[in-house]
Amino acid sequence: MKLLFVCLGNICRSPAAEGVMQHLVAQQGLSNHIECDSAGTYGGHAGELPDSRMRVAAARRGYDLRSLSRQIRSEDFDRFDMILVMDDSNYERVHRLAPSLEAAGKIFRMTEFCRRHPDATHVPDPYYEGSEGFERVLDLLEDACEGLLVFVKTALS
Ligand code: 4NP
Repeated sequence: MKLLFVCLGNICRSPAAEGVMQHLVAQQGLSNHIECDSAGTYGGHAGELPDSRMRVAAARRGYDLRSLSRQIRSEDFDRFDMILVMDDSNYERVHRLAPSLEAAGKIFRMTEFCRRHPDATHVPDPYYEGSEGFERVLDLLEDACEGLLVFVKTALS
């Protein structure tokens, strides 16, 4: 099962989602079955490490974020089984890239998998926020990744 996490810049939310999910997958001994990657709808930060504010906040919770930013491309619909977006703007842009209706069915909103935040509709962009924004992102992503892992394990069984 191959998962692609997508946000705007691929330097804050989606690399954090990738790191949190990889951590959970490794903890459960599923690294050989579940692969994680991330990308952005905007390519302006391509080649960069995640934003230092995100790396610091994630490291405090035990996640080492070291993926390099890249832009999503339509071939990602062939390579990945699920594409998980953070907000409506990501959803629209990724949907426009989908080569077919079947491919578009691979797109999910990350917050669909939240259980402790049932009212969350999106993972808010923290780029112009203070440190609370980054903590909020991690709270939502930890919740969503746990729910996503339950979903993926059911799909694999
Ligand atoms: P991300 O955050 O989409 O969570 O990676 C952002 C990163 C960069 C920009 C906006 C949001 N930017 O405008 O450059």
